[in-house]
Amino acid sequence: MEPNQTHATPDRATGTVYLVGCGPGDPELLTLRAYRLMQSADVALYDHLVSDEVMALLPASVRRIYVGKERDRHTMPQEAINDLLVRHARDGHRVLRLKGGDPFIFGRGGEEIDTLAAQGVAFEVVPGITAALGVASYAGIPLTHRDYAQSCLFVTGHRKEDGFEMDWQALSRPRQTVVVYMGLLGLPTMCDGLIAHGMSADTPAAVVQQGTTREQRVITGTLRTLPQAVADAMLTPPTLMIIGDVVRLRERLDWFRPGEAALLPVKPGAMPA
Ligand SMILES: C[S@@+](CC[C@H](N)C(=O)[O-])C[C@H]1O[C@@H](n2cnc3c(N)ncnc32)[C@H](O)[C@@H]1O
Repeated sequence: MEPNQTHATPDRATGTVYLVGCGPGDPELLTLRAYRLMQSADVALYDHLVSDEVMALLPASVRRIYVGKERDRHTMPQEAINDLLVRHARDGHRVLRLKGGDPFIFGRGGEEIDTLAAQGVAFEVVPGITAALGVASYAGIPLTHRDYAQSCLFVTGHRKEDGFEMDWQALSRPRQTVVVYMGLLGLPTMCDGLIAHGMSADTPAAVVQQGTTREQRVITGTLRTLPQAVADAMLTPPTLMIIGDVVRLRERLDWFRPGEAALLPVKPGAMPA
């Protein structure tokens, strides 16, 4: 592979695709690199998890193309998204592919740049703050802590499409935090499975809805009580589940007041592109 396929030098003649992680919602969590690229883009293809506040930072001149990807409502097939990226780059555009969180964490980022690499289109990857990191911070739940957890596991609870079985043994190890992406529908199955595989039913667990945003809601409980508490609270995606003793720390470390969150006004073009 040529070096410019892994670290793109912007080339107006052939165009470049920038696969950009936009974080979990709060625009303040964007990287400087992401922000700068947004100011000089021609076109932006974005998912439903890229927040309105992040999209508002794109200059009006940037063409926006919504490519969706909500559970069971895939607005555009993956192949069509890949084709669009290639086509716009070949038209000589600076193309942003904006994704929620980090593109390489449950984001199909690898699949998209695989197509670009195969087609000889220059690309660059900009990491973002993945939901687990942003959401845990704003919920006051450290994912590791010397007294409670020495490791942390990120897993997906969305099994229908992939059809794989959970590695229950790995999930139920002691002194570990488990973060479940896309796990709202499968929440009762997850809790029951962990209990059945030896985890205490009293293990603390939390579900965070729309973490890092003004709409953030956090429901805490135990593996035994959480499914009912979440059903009662009528949470809706996106949600993230955090399982492990670290959840107890929220009682002391909860700091984020969603209703009072004052987002700093950032004007497009306020920083050099
Ligand atoms: C397809 S995955 C994409 C993950 C993304 N690439 C990342 O690194 O965060 C989507 C899932 O991420 C989680 N998620 C993303 N943003 C979230 C947020 N603000 N609050 C809670 N969960 C979130 C949810 O579990 C959601 O179903």
